[in-house]
Parts: sequence; structure tokens; C-alpha cells
Amino acid sequence: FATGPLSGLHALVTSGPTHEPIDPVRYIANRSSGKQGHAIAAALAALGARVTLVSGPVALADPPGVTVRRVETAREMLAACEAALPAEIAIFAAAVADWRVAREAGQKLKKQPGEAAPTLGMALNPDILATLSRHAQRPRLVIGFAAETEHVVEHARQKLARKGCDWIVANDVSGDVMGGAENAVHLVTAAAVEDWPRMPKEQVAARLAARIAEQLA
Ligand code: C5P
Repeated sequence: FATGPLSGLHALVTSGPTHEPIDPVRYIANRSSGKQGHAIAAALAALGARVTLVSGPVALADPPGVTVRRVETAREMLAACEAALPAEIAIFAAAVADWRVAREAGQKLKKQPGEAAPTLGMALNPDILATLSRHAQRPRLVIGFAAETEHVVEHARQKLARKGCDWIVANDVSGDVMGGAENAVHLVTAAAVEDWPRMPKEQVAARLAARIAEQLA
């Protein structure tokens, strides 16, 4: 590991989408490249943290010096996060599917001539951020993300309280942030809101890692 202000600390990061199977060849997913989450994992490692990155399916290379646990579904992501505890820092950047198909078909659903389209019954997925925020082994600093298209800070404040986390990194996704190289975020804590200028996702990650080091110093 690199030595730095986060040496000796374990950081858990989630990244990417989850895939929720419908049948062996179909799934429901979210749009998420994993760029921001992977960049955060790399930035924490660069400051000396031991990092476990729990990632859904992404097209990105593993960040160097980071332990990567690959998962597909939200339930697998939660299990991998709980298995990674204890950790001092947890950052939930993954775009987790809120619902899964209640009964995954064991065989490919067949389109039959003249038959109506199937109806998919859905079940609620666990909320990983909320679960870890209230966990017996809760990390000291729990950070969630909020993608909003309006009232960004107001919604982030509500999310902070509802999820029980310490900080929310709120971004306005009304523009071209999804899958893009840059991000404009607000760091919302119980005490204050910091408005950060638009910058590359790697820089958002580096600044967030530095802010975490300052907080835990
Ligand atoms: O509730 P919402 O999806 O807007 O909250 C976003 C935050 O919650 C993100 O940090 C995301 O990673 C996390 N989340 C989660 N598990 C879910 C849904 C969201 O960890 N099932």
C-alpha cells in the first residue's frame, strides 16, 4: 500500500450498476459506468487506505492496489459489503437497482405467437447504504450519493436523514453527467453544504479522498 494520511484505514466502496435477472439471458439494470466509484477507490488507495471495491458489471479495469469483489445483483452487493466489514470508511457510489424481478425464470421466456406480453412481478431490493448506516459494525464515516434532476441540495439533506449516513455527495444529473467524464457536486453534511465546481471525476475523487482524510485526522 501507499503510505499517506489514510494508512491503516480500511475503505469500502461500491461502484457500477447492479443487474437483476429476468431469465438466464435478460436483466434489468441502471445506467452507470462506474467511473466515479472506481476513481474514488483509486484516490483512497493513493492516500494509503486499504480499499475493497465492490463493483457491479462495468467495462473498467480494476484500479491498481485495490481489492475488487465483482457482483451482479443488489443482494450480492449487500452480502459482499457486509463480508468486507469492518471498515472505517464506506462510500456508496453504485447505482443499485431498487427493484428486482420477484421470480427469476429458470429458462428463457419464450415469445409465443398470439400470446400477450409477460407481466413481471417486482420485489424491493435491500438498500445497501441504509443497511450499512445502521449496521452493528457501522463504519465511522458513511457517505452516500444522490443523483437528482432538481432541488439537488434539498433532496440530499432529506436523503442524509432518511438513510442515516454522514455525508451525501449530490450531483445534478439533468445534464450530461451520466457516463460522462466530469461531475459537478455538492458535498452535503449535517452542518454545511460545499458547492464544488465542475471538474473531472478523477478530481472529484481526489478532493473527496482529501476531505475524508481531513475529517478522520
Ligand atoms: O435512494 P437513492 O437511490 O436515491 O440513494 C442513492 C444512494 O443510496 C447511493 O449512495 C446509492 O449507492 C445508495 N443505494 C444503495 N442501495 C440501494 C439504493 C441506493 O446503497 N438499494
